[in-house]
Amino acid sequence: MSRIVYVNGSYLPEEDAKISVFDRGFLMADAVYEVTSVIDGRLVDFDGHLARLDRSLGELDMPAPADRDTLLAIHRELVSRNALVEGLVYMQVSRGVADRDFAFEPDMQPSLVLFTQTKALAESPAAEQGLRVITIPDQRWARRDIKTVQLLYPSLGKMMARKAGADDAWMVEDGHVTEGTSNNAYIVSGGRIITRNLGPEILAGITRAAVLRFAREAQMEIQERPFTPDEARAADEAFVTSATSFVMPVVEIDGTALGDGAPGPVARRLREIYIEESRRAAI
Ligand code: PDD
Repeated sequence: MSRIVYVNGSYLPEEDAKISVFDRGFLMADAVYEVTSVIDGRLVDFDGHLARLDRSLGELDMPAPADRDTLLAIHRELVSRNALVEGLVYMQVSRGVADRDFAFEPDMQPSLVLFTQTKALAESPAAEQGLRVITIPDQRWARRDIKTVQLLYPSLGKMMARKAGADDAWMVEDGHVTEGTSNNAYIVSGGRIITRNLGPEILAGITRAAVLRFAREAQMEIQERPFTPDEARAADEAFVTSATSFVMPVVEIDGTALGDGAPGPVARRLREIYIEESRRAAI
């Protein structure tokens, strides 16, 4: 199946879409990205993703490729041209094209690429079963608050999980869990939701912000602080959040089953609320 993708001003069949071999995104991972979920053919939390993109660009001194309304129009056009009902829109901004050099000129023209991907988000077998995760050392660079395309270590981490017969990995630094390979990590202990506080060590998830807001509105107690793998293995339940998984229960950590080994009530309730609210607020 051929998709229509967007590259630097043009909507093209995917096989005709081209990026220069001198693009710094390709040569140096000098690029940032966002993944926005689509439900009922509409975008979830688009403005949250745009705000984080602006922040990532600012941290790297990269100019914005277009304004908010133009980017929204491109997202919507791709959803429409690909008749996407449920899935995601991937958007990548790189610094642009230049002769290979570690230094870069301040006034480069950014490259902008967007494509869609179909994915069952609301009805997911994984959400019924829950994920099994392993813990691995966090060997990423130190600015994980910037959403760059340097995804080699998280990708290797996911493969380590697969080889260990698990679904995903939680990364550990200085004795504390940072986050999952492509999601934020949470445990539930004694009725409290515990998740790593924001900082350069983790990505400020857009789903995380929404889920914490819904949890507070539902009078759930939240602690934003680092937690250890031991604390996680002894927790009553656990879950992860991201634009591609919403709220996904975790049922096993390093081979230790949490609670009765089934998705826990807090994760299941937050998933329900998140899906309901996203359907209502998507644009
Ligand atoms: N990843 N932490 C990391 C390291 C991530 O890569 C992601 C998202 C998140 C959750 O962020 P959000 O809730 O805004 O999706 C946290 C996306 C989905 C990806 O790379 O595909």
